[in-house]
Amino acid sequence: MLSNLPTDQISNDCWKILIIDDDNFIHKVIEESLKDYVFEGRPLEILQAYTSQEALRILSQNKDIALILLDVYIGSEAIGLKLAKYIREIVGNSLVRIILMTSSIDNTLRKEAVVNYDINGYEYKKDLMSKKLHTVVTSSLRYYRDILHMYNNKKAMEEIATTSSQLFGKESIEDFFETTLYHLNYVINLYEDNYGFDVSSLAAVKANGDNHFRVVSGFGKYQSAIHSPLEDVLSDGDYGLIKDAGTSNNCIISEDNFVSCYNSSSGVEAVVFLEMDNKGENHVNYDILKVFHRNIAASFEKLCINMEIEETQREILYILGELTEAKSEETGNHVLRVSKYAKILAEKYGLSKRDVMLVTMAAPIHDIGKIAISDSILLKPCSLTPSEWEIVKSHTTIGYNILKNSNRDLLKSAAIIAHQHHERYDGKGYPQGLKGEEIHIFGRIVAVADVFDALGSPRVYKKPWVLNDILAYFKEERGKHFDPKLVDILFENIGEFLEIKEKFSDENIKVIEQVSDNTFDSNTFYGKDAK
Ligand SMILES: [Fe+2]
Ligand SMILES: [Fe+2]
Repeated sequence: MLSNLPTDQISNDCWKILIIDDDNFIHKVIEESLKDYVFEGRPLEILQAYTSQEALRILSQNKDIALILLDVYIGSEAIGLKLAKYIREIVGNSLVRIILMTSSIDNTLRKEAVVNYDINGYEYKKDLMSKKLHTVVTSSLRYYRDILHMYNNKKAMEEIATTSSQLFGKESIEDFFETTLYHLNYVINLYEDNYGFDVSSLAAVKANGDNHFRVVSGFGKYQSAIHSPLEDVLSDGDYGLIKDAGTSNNCIISEDNFVSCYNSSSGVEAVVFLEMDNKGENHVNYDILKVFHRNIAASFEKLCINMEIEETQREILYILGELTEAKSEETGNHVLRVSKYAKILAEKYGLSKRDVMLVTMAAPIHDIGKIAISDSILLKPCSLTPSEWEIVKSHTTIGYNILKNSNRDLLKSAAIIAHQHHERYDGKGYPQGLKGEEIHIFGRIVAVADVFDALGSPRVYKKPWVLNDILAYFKEERGKHFDPKLVDILFENIGEFLEIKEKFSDENIKVIEQVSDNTFDSNTFYGKDAK
């Protein structure tokens, strides 16, 4: 069992040895024999206990004792055996080497100790003091060192396995590198929990067309460097290391730093820079770090490709949406704003991340069916005849029929939105007259987003409404045209909606002043726009 060892408390300055014996003479002899002892450049720190109580106190305060020289008999009892059992089974320390020492030649006891207790040696004190001490200590420390490496590498591998699955699920670059830095720090410096977050580390990204790497995630002294160009943040020497790591998916492990580069096939590049605690070199195998690096590179590639596909889809849908709007001479950022309003509504409504993404991306093509409606009707600036009105209403079913056969969730969502964005909560909408929650939430969301934007925008047949009139309309139509919960969300977050309206406002929109007031006209408005 390799457990319960807080590796952050392991000393790298010396090897700790605990002598447990009630005989002061033994302490003195061992201390004297080992006073100049050094193993792998590190001296010993000798801790001494004369009773089992003292031993337990020292053990609880020093989790990184490498070797215990333990007297079998403390007083008249074989307490040493009980103590060995306690250390292994209760304290759970399987790393410390335990050498039992005894002055009596009792073969039965020796056999019992070796067979039944998890000890690493059984020595006669006389032999140990006279000739074997150095050999026993050296072989025990060597074993302790190796088992510690094994333990740390096992922990690192476990961490890498967990991290790899976590990284595969990340959807944003910032999230991805925050997780990467956290786990790299853990694996390299072997910190537990949040300890060690002061260790300085950063990740920086260069997107297509950028000239600079910009910091996207940072800890320690780089915590406030987010968005800064990398060359402004790192020293010349450290920046040089990144250049050395180079243009390919490579990593460099120097005495003080871990540096790695990640190049995705979509053209996005990233670098990770992490300062190593001096414990790092002693603990984790270089090959394990390379495995971790390769896993990060693979996850980064997947993330970048996903982002590229998503961005391309998003742009294509905007372009399609704009094409439809342009046909109605409704130029500008209408579809962009509808998409952004839909995102707020979906998030605040409590939809899942995936559903928020679907409704946000699909919303721009809500009116795609208008492609099949003739310009003479769509661009008619005055009231429509009943038959023209029926033709305009058919843009919902036309849109649905264009999209409905896809198996892709995104296009399925777009089909629902195209079909249902003119349904009304009270069942008086079209084309199916669905009511309340019979209307898919995507349809209900886009209805609010589309009408909110359409009312505030100029159209060939109307001027933009002022905000108070728009809000009064939504108040009036709460539970009639619109899902009341969504109207509440609109009111509660009106600031965010207005920010979007302002930020993505239309420029140079042609306003045809044929409708001289803001009076709501269901015939013209329902036919031409969102309601
Ligand atoms: Fe529509
Ligand atoms: Fe619209």
